[in-house]
Amino acid sequence: MTADLLIVGSGFFGLTIADRCARELGLKVQIIDRRDHLGGNAYSEIDPETGIEVHRYGAHLFHTSNQRVWEYVNRFTTFTPYQHRVYTTYRGEVFPLPINLGTINQFQRAAYSPDEARAWVAEQAAMITGEPANLEEKAISLIGEPLYEAFIKGYTAKQWQTDPRELGADIISRLPVRYTYDNRYFSDTYEGLPTDGYTAWLERMADHDNITVTLEADFFDETQPFNKKACVGVTPVVYTGPVDRYFDHAHGDLSWRTLDFETEVLATGDFQGTPVMNYADPDIAYTRIHEFRHFHPEREHPADKTVIMREFSRFAGTGDEPYYPVNTPQDRERLLAYRELARGEKNVLFGGRLGTYQYLDMHMAIGSALSMFDNKLAPYFRDGAALD
Ligand code: FDA
Repeated sequence: MTADLLIVGSGFFGLTIADRCARELGLKVQIIDRRDHLGGNAYSEIDPETGIEVHRYGAHLFHTSNQRVWEYVNRFTTFTPYQHRVYTTYRGEVFPLPINLGTINQFQRAAYSPDEARAWVAEQAAMITGEPANLEEKAISLIGEPLYEAFIKGYTAKQWQTDPRELGADIISRLPVRYTYDNRYFSDTYEGLPTDGYTAWLERMADHDNITVTLEADFFDETQPFNKKACVGVTPVVYTGPVDRYFDHAHGDLSWRTLDFETEVLATGDFQGTPVMNYADPDIAYTRIHEFRHFHPEREHPADKTVIMREFSRFAGTGDEPYYPVNTPQDRERLLAYRELARGEKNVLFGGRLGTYQYLDMHMAIGSALSMFDNKLAPYFRDGAALD
């Protein structure tokens, strides 16, 4: 192989490494991805019937308080002033999320002041005394039974396909309740959506003479040239695929939740009046509906058509896309064993969501790739430091 570096995976982690190595160090970089498009889970595409941008792997909202990451991403795209807000339907009524003073007052048919609402929640939460034994008890100890039953129980059961009484208390550490009417979902310094879409942004990162992207190339497929057997030990590798797969699942499978998406074009100019509507009732199988036109109110969209996507959550089986780490105690044990193996793998660095078995938001994946570049790759290529 003639490249100086092979990157497995063209998500934000891989693209950030590729950009820095090509533009900053002048290296020749080969990226491979097993999918037929670049960009990993942040990839979006234009729906041919409506012209509306659809996020293929679920809604992606960009937000960060990391100044360096914000300046870095602005090299490749500008952002709209979009601010994310979420609502939830519960028993035929719509409430604002995250739980805030508006949610509580609507739920209680009351006009509580912040202090009154705080006192009411504390009184409900005091019903659980002692160490919570499961997720349900933990949630009740944080926000009380009425709010838990309405807004957390059904949604959580659908997300995990498990009764919350059978889920560990450690799955949640806090359930934020805001005692104001502020229902902005994120509280980061910077927030917005890429003005001309995610894919334009992702393509600009890869658009450099020294960067070659090869799609539909699986690192473990020995019939394509950039495979594990041919490259490891010959060319430095940054691997952003699943860490257990790299080691042939030697310590067992790490468990993931996956999502199923059902996309539909509807003959209306507006289906739900907002980008994301959660569904808290257990008898509705999906967890939420995305309506993509609302992510870009500044764009022209058809007046009589809209695209919606229903999201269903379940445990991932063999062949499913891994989305969120489940992180059971067994997973954590296995992860430690894989980290040990990874440390012994000379000239291969493991990064990103799948390579570290960690849920990472986009800004975290980008920030973590910038750190890997600063701390490992630049010293190796510039100064001849060891790569481990
Ligand atoms: P990513 O998964 O994007 O890329 C890894 C790439 O490696 C994939 O393209 C894959 O095909 C490739 N690959 C794997 N194995 C391979 C192999 N053997 N050979 C070749 N290629 C291989 N973040 C955020 O900030 N705001 C948000 O709103 C959301 N929303 C969101 C929704 C959902 C449903 C998910 C799952 C995730 C989000 N995210 C998010 C997180 C965001 O998607 C995440 O931060 C980035 O995808 C991380 O980028 P990575 O490059 O680490 O992984």
